[in-house]
Amino acid sequence: MGESGTDPRQLIVELCAHMYRLGWASGTGGGISLRDGQRVFMAPMLATLIAGDTEERRMKATWLSDSGERGDEITADVLADNGVLYQRLSTDVAAYQPPMARIKAEHGYIHQDEVALRPGTPDLDLICAKFVDEHHHDEDEVRFVLEGEGVFDIRSNDDRWMHVEVGVGDLIVVPAGRHHRFFLTGLKTIRCVRLFKDPSGWVAHYRHAS
Ligand SMILES: [Fe+2]
Repeated sequence: MGESGTDPRQLIVELCAHMYRLGWASGTGGGISLRDGQRVFMAPMLATLIAGDTEERRMKATWLSDSGERGDEITADVLADNGVLYQRLSTDVAAYQPPMARIKAEHGYIHQDEVALRPGTPDLDLICAKFVDEHHHDEDEVRFVLEGEGVFDIRSNDDRWMHVEVGVGDLIVVPAGRHHRFFLTGLKTIRCVRLFKDPSGWVAHYRHAS
């Protein structure tokens, strides 16, 4: 550790943030400590996560050029103007079920399940390959992230790319018929609640079908 050149005080915060993004820490207690020679650094998990929370968990959405260059930030209001619902919810089951129930009632979603992708998921690359080409579905794509992270690129009303990074606690609704694509990040981990009107509607229609 001492040879890495990384300040242990910075490293301990980064470790806490990393565990949080993986969904391994809820921010409700516990702690973490690092030993560097004779020195021991301790961070209460809650304090660390609160400190990192506003930076780590703020929605990260930007315009994206067709050549992949990121532009100005996009707010949740701009996403809403473009038909994309974005909300932050607690990942505590008791806390997220009431707002989830409201969303289900408002939009007519009657099925709820959970899906997880992890580095050890069989055929992970094949599964991910189905999402990376631009496509749409006959019903809304609803994802509430409980663990890990991912990236949605979603077409705006005027067919520009909106690049939306989602992480733990993010709920996103990509409307039916709207072209989009999805990528895992380097974590290769995401676990989400999915909502459907009809699970059979979640079939990808590719924009550039060969
Ligand atoms: Fe999709």
